[in-house]
Amino acid sequence: MLRKLNLIAVSLAASLSAVSGQTFQRLGTCPTLGCVLPPDQQDFLPGQQFDIRFEVHAPKNGSEAFNNGVPDEQFTATIAKDGGKAKSIAEYFDVSAEPALEKWTFHWYEDLFAHDAKTPSVVNVASKIYRRVALYEPGAYIVTLNYYSGKTTTATWVVRPIAKEKKAKNVIFFVGDGMTTNMITAARLLAHKSINGKYQSLMAIDKFPVVGHHMSHSIDSFITDSANSASALYSGHKSTVNAMGVYADSSPDLFDDPKVETIVELLKRIWGSSWGAVSTAFIADATPIALTAHTRSRYAYGPLIDQALNGVSNYSWTEMDGPDAYFGGGAEQFLPGSGSYLGKDYYAEFAKKGYSISLNKTSLEKASNKTKALGIFCKSNLPVWLDRNIFPANLKNLTNDPSGAKASATDLPGLKEMTLKAIDVLHERGGDKGFFLMSEAASIDKQMHALDYDRALGDLLEMDDTVRAAVEKLKALGELENTLIIVSADHGHGFDVFGSADTKYMAAQDDDRHKRNAIGVYQNSGLSQYTVEQPGISYGTGANFPVNWDPRYVIAAGLGANPDHREYYGVNKTGSRVPATTIKGKASDDYYVNPNDHPEGFVVNGTLPTNEAQGVHSLTDVPVYAMGPCQETFGGTYGNIDVFYKMAACLGLGQPTNKTITSGCQAEKGKGKDTGKGKDKNWVTI
Ligand SMILES: *[C@@H]1O[C@H](CO)[C@@H](O)[C@H](O)[C@H]1NC(C)=O
Ligand SMILES: *[C@@H]1O[C@H](CO)[C@@H](O)[C@H](O)[C@H]1NC(C)=O
Ligand SMILES: *[C@@H]1O[C@H](CO)[C@@H](O)[C@H](O)[C@H]1NC(C)=O
Ligand SMILES: *[C@@H]1O[C@H](CO)[C@@H](O)[C@H](O)[C@H]1NC(C)=O
Ligand SMILES: *[C@@H]1O[C@H](CO)[C@@H](O)[C@H](O)[C@H]1NC(C)=O
Ligand SMILES: *[C@@H]1O[C@H](CO)[C@@H](O)[C@H](O)[C@H]1NC(C)=O
Ligand SMILES: *[C@@H]1O[C@H](CO)[C@@H](O)[C@H](O)[C@H]1NC(C)=O
Ligand SMILES: *[C@@H]1O[C@H](CO)[C@@H](O)[C@H](O)[C@H]1NC(C)=O
Ligand SMILES: [Zn+2]
Repeated sequence: MLRKLNLIAVSLAASLSAVSGQTFQRLGTCPTLGCVLPPDQQDFLPGQQFDIRFEVHAPKNGSEAFNNGVPDEQFTATIAKDGGKAKSIAEYFDVSAEPALEKWTFHWYEDLFAHDAKTPSVVNVASKIYRRVALYEPGAYIVTLNYYSGKTTTATWVVRPIAKEKKAKNVIFFVGDGMTTNMITAARLLAHKSINGKYQSLMAIDKFPVVGHHMSHSIDSFITDSANSASALYSGHKSTVNAMGVYADSSPDLFDDPKVETIVELLKRIWGSSWGAVSTAFIADATPIALTAHTRSRYAYGPLIDQALNGVSNYSWTEMDGPDAYFGGGAEQFLPGSGSYLGKDYYAEFAKKGYSISLNKTSLEKASNKTKALGIFCKSNLPVWLDRNIFPANLKNLTNDPSGAKASATDLPGLKEMTLKAIDVLHERGGDKGFFLMSEAASIDKQMHALDYDRALGDLLEMDDTVRAAVEKLKALGELENTLIIVSADHGHGFDVFGSADTKYMAAQDDDRHKRNAIGVYQNSGLSQYTVEQPGISYGTGANFPVNWDPRYVIAAGLGANPDHREYYGVNKTGSRVPATTIKGKASDDYYVNPNDHPEGFVVNGTLPTNEAQGVHSLTDVPVYAMGPCQETFGGTYGNIDVFYKMAACLGLGQPTNKTITSGCQAEKGKGKDTGKGKDKNWVTI
């Protein structure tokens, strides 16, 4: 039955999508002129709340020009379960008043030629949105939009089965942002000694009993960013690049898009558990903020911190009253000023709601385990593990003090200290109701973007060390058996190691072709020198980290999607790499090799558009390591959304009735303000 329904939907979509674009799309999830959001092929947890938006497009000009640009305002929509009788949306969801008709206009470019010629296609839209509904009965549903007297768009939705029992009390979800199996392999080579091909110690994640793979594609592009991939992992719904907790619509308002309920919203509403997020990024960054964010734009940092604390306040939605533990960087969104929502002091806003506020490691460790805890330790991202531990001089000149003082933040916790404290607070506050913690090693991704492999791998090893310590902590608390631990990533970057590089030889050569001969491949790659102790050098970072970060023979690494840059492969002791820069007299978005980056190395010309200053994400599936209750369900290869459904099933979040929805479905209130901020669907920066 289900399979047959899907086939019908697919063939319909295929026959109507002849004009859909590739580089740019009118609306990625809507190849026809009638849009159903959530679109075709979406899955739902029973009882998960979401909004439904219908849009009817009337392109005024361009190749799709239709009806003189006048959209059908008389469109109707129905829903039918498992081939049953179709009911109107209002009747099915028991909506007392039909939502108001909304209208707007947007434009897009049909391809790069249209973009260069500045000839956008203009589209007028009529739309309705049904807010805060839910489907409870597992099975297949067909939603049909009827418009332009006779045209239809259908969407097949599948409500997943309800888990029979709640198996896990707690979940800890580690996200190595941008982390791939290749990076884990390289990190192991750097930190763990091998004798005649046999490792003498292993990474903590190597000991996890179950490994799977997830496919990270976005809903409307095959390469994802961290926003919509986090959203898929947390909600079971894929979205568009830059969007979180919503299906991207075409309206200019960044906050009115149709929402989906996230794992922490469900957990809070259904079990009253505690939850927290820890990140080495600024806390408003995509991976931590997607737990609570509902927006088309990940860049609305200030408003998103308000959503994390106060929930969605202007549309009917799950009531939320903030995380129990929230640790990371990003003081810009808390200090009163241009980076915070409405210019307010969010340290004070959190304090008003009973939070302890910590701005350094000492104060974090002293914070009560019983009260909600906010810890913001610097502006922007936390300095990376390598600079905190091996090259601390690089921290001295920063002006990143979280209090806003013109000083550097010095008393910094790392991912491990933040994660262990979060476990204490969440365990105490969750009690019998359990907890959910997301802990993100953000700079694996950030430093891979900068082609700074040493800094990326240092942060990967810090995450592995954090996993090891979290397991010990759970054991000590008597919670290990009750806790599902997942270690995964949101997407990858092209990276691997293909040999070693003799930095001494390379530096002594004077042209690029000779420099390349410093690379040893196959047999000439030799053995890892990062694990060989050097007389007089001790970093004091202990087991499970390299004992030499600056050997003569380094890993030759990289591959893939880069701007123009220079490779030398040795560690950069003075800070994170800046591989490409602009040149005086040329355009401000035209990047060339940075003349100061590793002058001893050789130039590698880029493969990316010339306006990309850094490396970009890649297509690869990423690993999912699982340990604890339901671990066996994480083996195999599946979509990123399945990580959510597996966690949700283990936590017993699927619900057969709507007893927990208090306000029911409502037409939206507080409608209409166009923020005017470019919801340009064509040029998105990631
Ligand atoms: C569509 O019309 C707008 C003016 O309303 C114009 O700027 C644009 O170039 C036109 N696009 C095409 C593809 O003709
Ligand atoms: C809705 O709330 C967000 C903050 O969550 C705010 O940025 C936005 O402007 C509000 N929109 C409207 C239409 O009030
Ligand atoms: C840490 O924060 C506390 C409380 O704000 C402050 O009293 C203390 O001086 C800070 N310590 C350092 C090393 O900055
Ligand atoms: C928090 O709980 C841990 C036990 O996991 C304990 O060692 C620590 O002292 C507690 N911290 C405070 C401030 O109470
Ligand atoms: C920090 O600044 C001082 C002078 O302002 C400079 O001499 C020093 O090299 C800088 N250190 C780093 C690590 O950039
Ligand atoms: C380290 O990176 C910075 C930024 O790219 C660069 O200015 C500096 O020269 C680099 N150092 C080395 C040793 O390459
Ligand atoms: C890089 O590309 C430029 C042209 O953009 C060319 O002049 C140069 O020779 C190339 N260098 C290498 C190492 O391929
Ligand atoms: C959900 O709750 C509303 C109001 O309590 C009720 O009228 C409606 O029938 C319920 N719907 C389902 C599907 O249970
Ligand atoms: Zn990234």
